Amino acid sequence: MKKGPVLQKQKRESGNFDAVLFVLKNMIYEDLKGKRVLVTGSSSGIGQAAAIAFAQQGCFVGVHYFRTKEGGEQTLAEALRYSDGCLLRADMRDPNQVEKMIGDFVRIAGGLDILISNAGTLLERVDIANMPLEHYEDEFATNSRSAFLAAKYALPHLKQSSGCIVNVGSVAGHNGGGGGSGVYAAAKAAVHVLTIAMAKEFGPFGIRVNTVVPGLIETRFHQRFSTSERKKKVAQETPLGRNGTAQDVAAAMLFLASSEAAGFITGEYLAVNGGLYMRA
Ligand SMILES: NC(=O)c1ccc[n+]([C@@H]2O[C@H](COP(=O)([O-])OP(=O)(O)OC[C@H]3O[C@@H](n4cnc5c(N)ncnc54)[C@H](OP(=O)(O)O)[C@@H]3O)[C@@H](O)[C@H]2O)c1
Repeated sequence: MKKGPVLQKQKRESGNFDAVLFVLKNMIYEDLKGKRVLVTGSSSGIGQAAAIAFAQQGCFVGVHYFRTKEGGEQTLAEALRYSDGCLLRADMRDPNQVEKMIGDFVRIAGGLDILISNAGTLLERVDIANMPLEHYEDEFATNSRSAFLAAKYALPHLKQSSGCIVNVGSVAGHNGGGGGSGVYAAAKAAVHVLTIAMAKEFGPFGIRVNTVVPGLIETRFHQRFSTSERKKKVAQETPLGRNGTAQDVAAAMLFLASSEAAGFITGEYLAVNGGLYMRA
């Protein structure tokens, strides 16, 4: 690893949302160069920043989207400025689509070294008392089963490469989430525990599995689900005095994915939350 990160802000316009991309400069993990990385949910937010960050390391990047094709195309175009990659589509709730997408990626890239299981979202703010069963199931399928399916179909390929997985949890998985996000929080807590279970099971194959656990990160997620007053209040309550950026999380993903930097770290979670939630 050379030097520290220098952030350079670049504004990009897109049809349905404004994406702010940052370029991580001077943060080079030499061992990541040439790795084949699949980033689920890279049409927006954290996944978009991650796909670009891995491309900047010289990785072949699989950019995945589901509903936001334009966002996926935008991510790929930016990634191609630095390295090679491809665009893939799948509903991460659907086992057949996930299996096909991973097969397609492996055919195009020639293998899989790093799986970033980032796709997910709060579907809607709904109290537990009023939640239909279908909504509960959908929240888990989107946020937890998606990570299970991706790992399951990636595993044979990761065994060949002694690769690694970085899952994406949430501070909500520690504290139960804000109003109407309790089931989303439970699904993310399941990701935290799945990470430990996978780390135990996959470790003998030389595969490391970790989770990044973001706090409040300023992405489309909170454009949809939080008022500007709430975001301001959370920033004030955060010891570092601000909310996070997608880039903050992408930098943690690079660290966990690098076997040079994190080669003896597995089953761990890395909180990226400015101190919003800390535990011993
Ligand atoms: N922002 C935060 O404060 C925060 C905090 C903790 C954890 N997280 C987690 O971080 C991850 C990224 O969130 P973000 O903040 O970057 O939100 P975002 O900008 O809304 O991005 C969400 C991504 O997930 C994809 N996705 C959602 N449902 C999907 C499905 N059924 N199948 C396939 N892809 C699906 C979206 O794809 P399409 O748009 O193409 O459908 C999009 O690429 C999520 O897992 C989220 O739960 C975020």
